[in-house]
Amino acid sequence: MDEPTLTLGQTVPALPDSGRSRPYVVASCAMSLDGYLDDATARRLILSNPEDFDRVDALRAWADAILVGAGTLRADNPRLKVRSAERRAARVRAQRPATPLRVVISATGNLDRAMAFFDGAGECLVYADAAGRARERLGTSATVIDAGTPLDLRAVLADLATRGVERLLVEGGGTVHTQFLTQGLADELQLVTAPFFIGDPRAPRFVGPGRFLNGPEHPLRLTETRAIGDLIYARYLTAPTPARKEAQP
Ligand SMILES: NC(=O)c1ccc[n+]([C@@H]2O[C@H](COP(=O)([O-])OP(=O)(O)OC[C@H]3O[C@@H](n4cnc5c(N)ncnc54)[C@H](OP(=O)(O)O)[C@@H]3O)[C@@H](O)[C@H]2O)c1
Repeated sequence: MDEPTLTLGQTVPALPDSGRSRPYVVASCAMSLDGYLDDATARRLILSNPEDFDRVDALRAWADAILVGAGTLRADNPRLKVRSAERRAARVRAQRPATPLRVVISATGNLDRAMAFFDGAGECLVYADAAGRARERLGTSATVIDAGTPLDLRAVLADLATRGVERLLVEGGGTVHTQFLTQGLADELQLVTAPFFIGDPRAPRFVGPGRFLNGPEHPLRLTETRAIGDLIYARYLTAPTPARKEAQP
């Protein structure tokens, strides 16, 4: 059977030169019209729809690794695997693992080996602040890597590159997206907007305050938009664009 259609694979720019020190990074999330990733309840808020979940599944199948912050594991308990059996089989035929390497970053190490992420099926890595408790809490459920104090995201990406990760999908949450986008570590953003508001300041936002590389003078480059049911999908590239306007004399 042919490789299933990968939305990203058809339009993604050439993969980084082999000499590049970090993977090509796609940041992906779904948010409300007012920029929230979730509401403030313990129940997981669904911002997506089946067609969009399938788009994300194709993106996962494209990736060599999927990274989230520990907050997302604690809030959503995701498995972060490729759901489609066809896509998993296509990966295996291409001599890739059935599901991407799964990666979490944590300073505290406040993670529980009973989480779905640590199900023992497929490799998972925990980049943790050495001062945290990840190693003692997780035992052999995951490979725990000391990522410095404070944890350095560039070092995490460089380490992933040495492990053969050329394509990294970052699935949130907001704290993680903020860092990738302020530190210039995301190459593109795939953003889905749901047609409702949350309006609760206790809920997590897509990004928090920060000095973003793509401010008004260097906007992201919009390369694709489409409706997915009542959702709006937008794909942006973050590469620096020429200054948007000259400073006024
Ligand atoms: N709608 C969507 O597409 C989507 C996607 C993902 C998540 N979400 C939602 O987003 C929310 C979670 O977002 P969040 O912002 O609270 O959490 P998050 O970004 O998932 O994780 C934050 C945590 O990651 C670790 N971390 C992040 N940066 C770090 C660094 N530089 N060094 C060390 N550790 C670092 C820390 O873990 P420790 O606290 O363990 O130190 C931090 O508390 C949840 O409500 C989830 O449902 C929504």
